[in-house]
Amino acid sequence: MNQAKRLQRRVVSGTGVLGAMRDERRDRGIISDAVLGDLRLGLASELSLSTTDSLPALADYPAHTRSARANTILGLLAALQAKDPYTAEHSIRVEVYARKLAQRLGLAGAPTRDIRVGAILHDVGKIAIPDAILNKPGRLTIDEFDLMKSHPVRGVAILRPIAFLEPILPMVMHHHEWYDGTGYPEGIAGEEIPFGARVIQVADCIDAMAWTRHYRRELNMAQIISELEKGAGRQFDPEIAAAAIDWIGEGPQCIYGIMASPSPTAHV
Ligand SMILES: [Fe+2]
Ligand SMILES: [Fe+2]
Repeated sequence: MNQAKRLQRRVVSGTGVLGAMRDERRDRGIISDAVLGDLRLGLASELSLSTTDSLPALADYPAHTRSARANTILGLLAALQAKDPYTAEHSIRVEVYARKLAQRLGLAGAPTRDIRVGAILHDVGKIAIPDAILNKPGRLTIDEFDLMKSHPVRGVAILRPIAFLEPILPMVMHHHEWYDGTGYPEGIAGEEIPFGARVIQVADCIDAMAWTRHYRRELNMAQIISELEKGAGRQFDPEIAAAAIDWIGEGPQCIYGIMASPSPTAHV
C-alpha cells in the first residue's frame, strides 16, 4: 500500500471539515486575520532583516530600517494584489506552506527567513504578464505560455534594484525548475537548483493543486499526496516531497486551516 492510500483514512476522517473549508474557498479564498497578522509581524521583525551572519541582533537593528524593509515587501505584495488578487493570495498561502516545510526539514534562522520572503515574492513577475493571458479561461497558446514562463525572469528584474532582497533572487528565478532538469527558465537539475527554490516549488505546487482555477479543478488531499509521490525525484526534490507528504498527512486543516472562518457579513 502506498503512502497516499495509507493516509487516505486520516484524510477521510476530516471530510466534514474539508467540505466546509471547500465552501469557504469558493468565497474567493479570504486569508484569515491571524495569518495576515503573522505575516505583518514576521515582516516587521525577522523577515525584513538581511541575511549575512555578521548582521547585528534584531534588538540592535534600527526600527525605521526594519519598517522600511517590511514596507517594501508589503508594497510589492500590494502591487501584485492590484494586478492579480488571486496570485497575491496564493503567494501568502505559499509562504505559510513553505514555512511549514522549512520547519519540517529542520531549517531555522536566516535560511527560513529567506525562503519565507522568497515565497511571498516568487510570482511578483506576473505583474508584467498581460491580464488577457493571466486570466485566460482556456488553454494558452505556445506563444502565450512562453510569455507566462517569463515571469520568474521578470520577477528578478523587478526585485534586482532592491539590494536587501538579493538573497531571494535565485529562488524567484528558479521556482519553476524541475528536479529532473525539465523545468524552466534554465533547465537546471537536482542540487543545481537553489534549495530555497526547491522548497518554494513544492509549496507552490501544493497550493496550485489544492485550488480550483479557471483552467482546472482542485485535487483532493489523497490526489495531492499521490501527485507528490509520483513527482518525487522527477518534478520535486524527493526529500522535500517526503516532508510535504508527511505534513499533508496530518489532514486538510494543514492546507485549508489558514482560511478565514465563514462570516455572516462575507457577502455583504
Ligand atoms: Fe510561478
Ligand atoms: Fe506560484
